[in-house]
Amino acid sequence: MAKIDFTGRVAIVTGAGAGLGRQYALELAKRGAKVVVNDLGGSRDGVGSSDAAAKKVVDEIKALGGQAAPNYDNVATAQGGENIVKTAIDAFGKVDILINNAGILRDKTFTKMEEENWDTVMAVHLRGAYCVSKPAFNKMRESGYGRIIMTTSGAGLFGNFGQSNYASAKMGLIGLTNVLKLEGAKYNIKVNVIVPVAASRLTEDVLPPQFFEKMKPDFIAPAVLYMCSELCQDSGMIINATLGYFSRSAVMTGPGAFLSDGTRVPSPEEVMESWNKIKSLENPKYFDQLPEMFGVLGPLLK
Ligand code: NAI
Repeated sequence: MAKIDFTGRVAIVTGAGAGLGRQYALELAKRGAKVVVNDLGGSRDGVGSSDAAAKKVVDEIKALGGQAAPNYDNVATAQGGENIVKTAIDAFGKVDILINNAGILRDKTFTKMEEENWDTVMAVHLRGAYCVSKPAFNKMRESGYGRIIMTTSGAGLFGNFGQSNYASAKMGLIGLTNVLKLEGAKYNIKVNVIVPVAASRLTEDVLPPQFFEKMKPDFIAPAVLYMCSELCQDSGMIINATLGYFSRSAVMTGPGAFLSDGTRVPSPEEVMESWNKIKSLENPKYFDQLPEMFGVLGPLLK
């Protein structure tokens, strides 16, 4: 079995001062990567800031004989993103790996979801991934190599009561991945997505206590490390991970129903009539990009 090794690679992990990000940073460093440990150090709902969290993880990595540099910027600003990437360039000369992991929660049911809670959560998760990925992507393009990980959530993929802001932001990252996997392809930039379920301060009142006890962040890192290694040649994968179980999620499209020859507009009643066929997911297809979807319409476009 080939060994996954990060010697000579430079990685940025956002939100690496705690939880999952800390675990990724430690494991990457143990396998030879030089790691930028970014963390704003605020509260679970994104208030305040502190250097302590990032500093502590940098010290832990150094104590293990690894190399790391701290960064305390906010991922949600363009300047913060630039500074995070600059930290990697200044300390280690390049950026090969970016793990977009920083995150906060502000759960409320939709009717109580104030604009500020919507905007702040969108800013950290979705805008944050834009702000850090853009300067990193530019550097990766120049060097012809890159691995980017986005962090989504089952709350977005499948739905979770009270998390409309978070779920929306997390699904935005799937759209961003779908485009970056295409735009990065010719530069050997692979963009993949992790869907973790693990004990952290974000999940301490979300996961039942008996799950929380067992679901260590250690179980997520193996999938993330493989996806950000040069041995991973896939891009656009959405990988669920928890407790040693790994699986792929994807947006699939059912076979559908042709209600027209492409010249006559069907009636709403015809749609109703064929609803079970239209909504069926039997024998679904996966489209790697939008133009592939047009292939299905072939007979109608003649
Ligand atoms: P955590 O709260 O332990 O870690 C998140 C870290 O991000 C914190 O250290 C925090 O200070 C940092 N952070 C927050 N806002 C920041 C900002 N604007 N700039 C820089 N750093 C910032 O939580 P956890 O669970 O480790 O979360 C990591 C990621 O995984 C998040 O994106 C979260 O949404 C996602 N996730 C976690 C799940 C879980 O089961 N723990 C489930 C699904 C997704």
